[in-house]
Amino acid sequence: GIIILDFGSQYNQLIGRRVREFGVYSEILPYYTPIEEILSHQPKGIILSGGPSSVNSENAHLVEDQLYEQNIPVLGICYGMQVTAKILGGEVSEGIKGEYGKSEFKIVKDTPLLTNLPQNSTVWMSHFDEVTELPEGFELIGTTSNSIACIANENKKIYAVQFHPEVSHSEYGELILRNFIFDICQCNKNWEISDFIETEVRKIREIVGNKKVMLGLSGGVDSSVAAVLIQKAIGNQLTCIFVDTGLLRKDEGDKVMKVYGEHFHMNIKRVNAEERFFFKLKGVNEPERKRKIIGNEFIRVFEEEAFKMEDIDFLAQGTIYPDIIESKSVKGPSAVIKSHHNVGGLPDELNLQLLEPLRELFKDEVRKVGIELGIPKELVYRHPFPGPGLGIRVVGEVDEEKVKILQQADEIFIEELIKHGLYDKVSQAFVVLLPVKSVGVMGDERTYEYTAVIRSANTVDFMTATWSKFPYEFLELVSNRIINEVKGINRVTYDISSKPPATIEWE
Ligand code: XMP
Repeated sequence: GIIILDFGSQYNQLIGRRVREFGVYSEILPYYTPIEEILSHQPKGIILSGGPSSVNSENAHLVEDQLYEQNIPVLGICYGMQVTAKILGGEVSEGIKGEYGKSEFKIVKDTPLLTNLPQNSTVWMSHFDEVTELPEGFELIGTTSNSIACIANENKKIYAVQFHPEVSHSEYGELILRNFIFDICQCNKNWEISDFIETEVRKIREIVGNKKVMLGLSGGVDSSVAAVLIQKAIGNQLTCIFVDTGLLRKDEGDKVMKVYGEHFHMNIKRVNAEERFFFKLKGVNEPERKRKIIGNEFIRVFEEEAFKMEDIDFLAQGTIYPDIIESKSVKGPSAVIKSHHNVGGLPDELNLQLLEPLRELFKDEVRKVGIELGIPKELVYRHPFPGPGLGIRVVGEVDEEKVKILQQADEIFIEELIKHGLYDKVSQAFVVLLPVKSVGVMGDERTYEYTAVIRSANTVDFMTATWSKFPYEFLELVSNRIINEVKGINRVTYDISSKPPATIEWE
C-alpha cells in the first residue's frame, strides 16, 4: 500500500481518503517515523504531506535522506515538496507574497505523473515558502504564474507538487494521485471497507485484551457504528452509556433504547440527566461556553457512571476525522474552529484510555462501515446530530420550554422531508430556534413569538456545504405547518448560507 508521512496539514486525511477510494491500502504515519519502521510496511509508494512549518526554520520537520534512496516512488505535496527539495540539495525561499486558493497550473514537460492532464488546469495552493532552485537530477515539470509548481526526478521516481491534488478544487488532482498510485507505484486495487472492519476488529481485540470498555452511545451514526464495531470485536466487554441530556430530538431516548437495546442486544445503561443540563445552562448565552458546559457535564455524567462501574479501562468514542480537524491544531497554526465535544475531555483520574476506531474516516466512509456491519439503512443514513444537540440549535440561552418548542418544529420539518422523498437528498436538515420575537397576527389576535429557521445543507465531507434548493411549495408547507401547529413560533425563515463562510450549525 501507500505510506503517507504526516507533516501536519489539515488536508492529510483527504490524501488517505483518496487512496482508500481507489481501493488501495494506506497508512498515515508521523513524519519522524524511523525509516526502518516505514520500510517494515513494505510500501509501494510514499506520499509526503503538506504542513504548516518552514523547512528553513531552526527545528524544521524533515525526513531522513535515505528515504529517497529506497527505490520507492515518492510524491511530495506542498510542504512535502519543499522538504524534498531542501533535503536533496535544492533551495527553498520565503515567497514574496504567498499563494493561496486558486491558481492556474501550466505543464512545461511531460511526465507519467501528469498523464492525461491538459496543459493548463486549475489547482489549489496554500503556501508561502517556495522552491527556488531545483535539486540535482530534477527537472521542471510545471509552473504557476507565481512559482515552481511541479518537479520530478524520473530516474528515481521522485515527484513533487506545490499545490494540493487531494482537495476537490484542484481540477485534475484525483487524476494526478491516480497516476502516481497506479502507474508510478503500481499499486493494486485490493482494499475494501470490509478490510477496514477486519483490521480494526483485530486492532481493538489486541488493544483491549480482556479489559472493559465503556462508550457513550448517542444514537447518531458515529457512536452507533463505533459501538457495533467494538461489540463485534469484544462482545459484552463493552458497556454503552446513553445520556439523556434533555437536548435530544423528540422521543429520541426511547427510540435509542429500543433499537440498540432490543434490536442489537447491547449492554446499554440509560442515564436521565436532563435537569442537570438545564440547570448548568441557565443564563448562558455564548455558544462556545454552552458547548463547553454541555461537553463538561457530559463527561461528568460519564465519570460518575464509570466510577460506579468497576474495572473499566477504556473510553470508546465515535470520533471521526472532521471532528479532530476542526477541534485542534495538529502541530501547527490551523486555528480551532469550534470545540467539538466528543474529542478528548478524558477524565484523568479515571485513567481511561481512548478507543476511537473511526478517527481516520469521513462521514460517508463511516456510513459504508455501518452498512457493512449490518446496521439498518434508515439508521446509517440518518442525518448527523451534533453532540451538544439542541443546546446549540436554540440560539442564545437554552431552557426546557424553548427545547420543547424546537423539538416540535424539528419533527414537523423532518416528517415532511421524509414524506416528500427529500430526506435522503440532503445531508443534514434541522430547525434552529431564534430567541428573536416578532409580531404576527393569528385570527384576530396579535402574536409575539419566537422565530424558527429551517436549515438544510448538502455536503460530502461536512467541511464545505451548500444550502438545499427546495421547491417554494415545500418550504411553504413546512412553514405553514410549523406556525399553525407549534405554539411559540409565529415566523419561519430559510437559511441560505453556504459553508464557508457560515457553518452548518448556528452555534
Ligand atoms: P459545522 O456547524 O461546524 O458542523 O459546519 C459540521 C458538522 O459537525 C456537526 N457538529 C458536531 N458534531 N459534536 C459533534 O459530534 C459537536 O460538538 C458538533 N458540532 C457540530 C454538525 O452537526 C455538522 O454535521
